[in-house]
Amino acid sequence: MEGLGIPTVGPNKEAAKIETNKAFMRNLFAKYNIKGSLTYKFFDEYSEELESFIDELTEKGIKVVVKPVGLTGGKGVKVVGEQLKDNEEAKKYAKEIFESGLGGGRVLIEEKLEGVEFTLHGFVDKEHIKFTPFVQDHPHAYEGDKGPITGGMGSYSCPTHDLPFLTEEDIRVSKEIMEETVKALKKEVGGYKGILYGQFMLTKEGPKIIEYNARFGDPESMNILAILRSSFLDICKGIVEGNLNNVNVEFDKKATVCKYVVPMGYPENPVRGKEIYVDEEKIKNVGAILHYAAVNEEDGKLIMTGSRAVAVVGVADNIEDAEKIAEEATKFINGQVYHRSDIGKKELIKKRIEIMKKLRG
Ligand code: GLY
Repeated sequence: MEGLGIPTVGPNKEAAKIETNKAFMRNLFAKYNIKGSLTYKFFDEYSEELESFIDELTEKGIKVVVKPVGLTGGKGVKVVGEQLKDNEEAKKYAKEIFESGLGGGRVLIEEKLEGVEFTLHGFVDKEHIKFTPFVQDHPHAYEGDKGPITGGMGSYSCPTHDLPFLTEEDIRVSKEIMEETVKALKKEVGGYKGILYGQFMLTKEGPKIIEYNARFGDPESMNILAILRSSFLDICKGIVEGNLNNVNVEFDKKATVCKYVVPMGYPENPVRGKEIYVDEEKIKNVGAILHYAAVNEEDGKLIMTGSRAVAVVGVADNIEDAEKIAEEATKFINGQVYHRSDIGKKELIKKRIEIMKKLRG
């Protein structure tokens, strides 16, 4: 696009490697000594070293993750003790990646981070980063964080723009990790511009980066954009023109809760081609924001394609009220669908706080 003279909010191919190439990302952290990295090794072929690396991590009590290095649409990551029964299955899976060429046919073995996940986005103009509120997504399909991993069933953010389980130090460190990443990208590839999405795990040692995405998170963007007070156009201009530092990036001090309504069977075996009934008027009356996602309009009907179908967002002074608005809105979306009613509810948030308390001792 830039080659055609079209101003572009988004990184070039080199800078986008922060998402598309896990080796690039991990090596950048090592080279520039950025905090929040983890134990890992890349392998170009199956070897005894790969086998012993897996065994050594397990002996130290560290859970092992096996990943293809390139993109696989989120389907390539497998963990010992979860999708992989034991170390032998992990080695077999690594062999399979080399043989099939999945995600570029290189393998990353790394430690599984234990803790609570959260998201931090930044607007970046190669030099400066302006942060948005912290958000927490819910990748598991079913209530109580059970079931298969999805694209994200819903998310919440707090009126204070932090999250209930984050300390001031966690917030400082998360921002520092992203600031250092932006500086390193400037030196390494001339700079990153666009939206940088940091997917973090809060571990007992503090925040660590699971991965970066060179885009907005889904559903997290619906939380952030619902309370953006500044002009999004001015922000985009600031990114393109490299003067983001002079652009006001402000958010309302409101809580947000987003819930996705998805087809029955999602994500593994979703119903497809079925009608979904959305009462726009009633959703508007409860004060929720409505977003259509994986639906098509056919003969005046809304037909689900099989992925996340419709999202509703509640905005209020506190999470409790925002949750009630979003939950109420889901009553006006019907068909062969389900959603997670626990997202944004006190009990689930409390569970996250408890997990961190226990981990931190
Ligand atoms: N929230 C997950 C994603 O956007 O990839």
